[in-house]
Amino acid sequence: MWCTPVSIPQTNAPPPSLADLLAARPALRMHAQDGLCFEDVPLNAVADAFGTPVWVYGAGTIRSRYAALRDAMHAAGLTPHIHYAVKANDHLAILSLLREAGAGADVVSLGEFMRAQKAGVTGQNIVFSGVGKTASDMQSALAAGIGQINVESAAELDMLSSVASATGKTARIVLRVNPDVDAGTHAKITTGKADNKFGIASDEILSLYARAAALPGIQPVGLALHIGSQILSPVPYAKAYAKAAWLVRALREAGQKISVLDLGGGLGIGYGDEPGLSLPAFANMVRREVGGLDVQLLLEPGRYLIGPAGLLLASVILEKRGGAKRFVVLDAAMNDLIRPTLYEAYHGILPVSPVDFLKPCSPADVVGPVCETGDTLATARELPIFSSGARIAILDAGAYGAVMSSTYNARPLAAAALVDHGRFTLITPRQKIEDLWAREIIP
Ligand code: LLP
Repeated sequence: MWCTPVSIPQTNAPPPSLADLLAARPALRMHAQDGLCFEDVPLNAVADAFGTPVWVYGAGTIRSRYAALRDAMHAAGLTPHIHYAVKANDHLAILSLLREAGAGADVVSLGEFMRAQKAGVTGQNIVFSGVGKTASDMQSALAAGIGQINVESAAELDMLSSVASATGKTARIVLRVNPDVDAGTHAKITTGKADNKFGIASDEILSLYARAAALPGIQPVGLALHIGSQILSPVPYAKAYAKAAWLVRALREAGQKISVLDLGGGLGIGYGDEPGLSLPAFANMVRREVGGLDVQLLLEPGRYLIGPAGLLLASVILEKRGGAKRFVVLDAAMNDLIRPTLYEAYHGILPVSPVDFLKPCSPADVVGPVCETGDTLATARELPIFSSGARIAILDAGAYGAVMSSTYNARPLAAAALVDHGRFTLITPRQKIEDLWAREIIP
């Protein structure tokens, strides 16, 4: 299958220098004494307080990205409900921040549903997606007054109808269409092609919608689609949304009521020094394709809101050579941030020390201590020679970072801190080694 690294800068331009990476990130600044600062907080202060590896999130960045998305849609005359995709980063502090900013939640498990509620998002403002919701997931979501369930198959529709009618509830649903569109992203994160497990084929939508309208306990209100993640061009979206618009019209002609169109997420960010998906281009495309449909639009962005708002702060344990290669060995590893291993994803890396930042660079592989060759966070990256204890920041790690961590090699989960208005607080203490076996039983 056609497959491209998920987020290596896509142009033929040379890879970004340290100065390019810094210049492309308004929340980061290199201070001559304090070193690298994130939203005006010296990262050295965070590492001194909480140790490394530590995730650092910027509340100001999260708020301003939410506002930028909302405002770009408003500027195009659109007022979508923004449902943050909890899977990107499910920390309660992040969820609370986004709820305060005005976001609802998009969840894919009962755990995410309950996290969103714990952070104060009401059931009414939650949409539940996913191909494998269980009857008990459905029951709990309905009991908590879930706003919308995105149904992904005929079998799920039947199951939901039985669960809802058995408990005297009505499930407000949309059908998730699989528009068979290639989002032009990494094969592992494309979701809208016919042979992906997600959604319902376009040619089954009309009959299934009619069936949904007739089933007890089901109130169909519209359609949803989500074609993939880290999408950098409006073009595949336009193809998918045009199909959705066609389906909305066809359903209405068949006498069905449609009041909701859930446009999914997938808005891509720049991981190097390239721009992410252009918000005005996206918003204008949405207006063009679906703006005249007289439906409530929904968006489910994850990465766009939180990706650039987080970094992983790590320390260099040592440098070593292997053959012709130079290795920088960190105290962070693939168990913390698995994206480079899983998708060959590119994450920018910056030194924290102003002295390191100005030193000459040479290529190095940046690796963790995990006993796997795949434990490589960056390959052939131009970096200064580091002494032991030097600190580095792995950038744009706010989305699909901590949530995909594991304790592989019995490595405790990292701490996390939130920076807000020039101050920082601990939001997750580092896991203790003893916690690793706290749930284990020797019979
Ligand atoms: N809605 C649905 C139904 C989804 O499946 C997803 C992501 C989103 C919204 C949010 O997509 P976003 O706006 O964040 O692109 N672990 C991968 C990404 C997997 C995305 C899965 N679905 C990565 O690290 O790149």
